[in-house]
Amino acid sequence: MPLSTKHLLGIAELSPADIELILNTARSFREIFSRPIKKVPTLRGRTVINLFFEPSTRTRSSFEIAAKRLSADTINFNVSSSSVVKGESLIDTGKNLQSMNPDIIVVRHHAAGAPQLLAKHCRNCAIVNAGDGMHEHPTQALLDALTIQDHKGRFEGLKVAIIGDIAHSRVARSDCLLLVKMGAQVVVCAPQTLIPLDFASYGVSVTNDIDVALDGADVVIMLRTQRERQREVFYPSVKEYFAFYGLNKRRLAMAKKDAIVMHPGPINRGIEIDPEIADCRQSVILEQVQNGVATRMAILYLLLGGRQTPAEEIIA
Ligand code: CP
Repeated sequence: MPLSTKHLLGIAELSPADIELILNTARSFREIFSRPIKKVPTLRGRTVINLFFEPSTRTRSSFEIAAKRLSADTINFNVSSSSVVKGESLIDTGKNLQSMNPDIIVVRHHAAGAPQLLAKHCRNCAIVNAGDGMHEHPTQALLDALTIQDHKGRFEGLKVAIIGDIAHSRVARSDCLLLVKMGAQVVVCAPQTLIPLDFASYGVSVTNDIDVALDGADVVIMLRTQRERQREVFYPSVKEYFAFYGLNKRRLAMAKKDAIVMHPGPINRGIEIDPEIADCRQSVILEQVQNGVATRMAILYLLLGGRQTPAEEIIA
């Protein structure tokens, strides 16, 4: 069964069956990572362009590694040395890149809706959203889902606490959309100033009390305080933020004993998470990064080649 979408623009457009297909395919691809030669020829002759208008460590590197493990050619478009600095628009940049016949353009942009705009104007290739403003980060939500499934084996009935700068977080939005779609019980927690008014309509519960959020949680997702997007003062000081909303050992003890701690990165140690907790036994933060490669392999594969050959046959 193929994906129901030509592009991957957001979790909002994916069905539960699409999500299951991506997670199952990613799980199959993980086997390649333990091979001496971590490469299959599936996407040979295909081209993936990484078009990142914002900084990235994990997403861009993992898309490049994912494409290379599938034998696709990859181009990392460097915005600061491109004609964007001469004033070329996003649409013109996309149309010019499309003229070189790539198969996929992976785009990260500071403006919400930029991937949707590219998809409208670049009809000959697939567009993948690698994070658009404060809107969505669908591939992060999918790799988070894979990590949760690895540890918990299900979504139904899980209590997932998402704590931190909800207002500026595209990860929070995509995680909420995906987890609610898959049957988890999601509670988001932040100071009131960092909770958008529309969030309750996502089918999640909202609290300003971290103890309520953590009580009996199976999964704790901490979010980075996104100071680069905060144009106002949302809390009195970093010290106070950590005192009221930082995850420490005492607070984590309120979650279930086998709760996992997640964070999309980059981490602000000592602001939203105690360094001791970031590196503790319950932390799966680096597993999330590893799952990022497998998840992005699955997405590239399903958008391009997955309709012809099942992933199991490729890795056999
Ligand atoms: N999680 C995430 O998007 O990290 P990067 O900004 O490093 O890509």
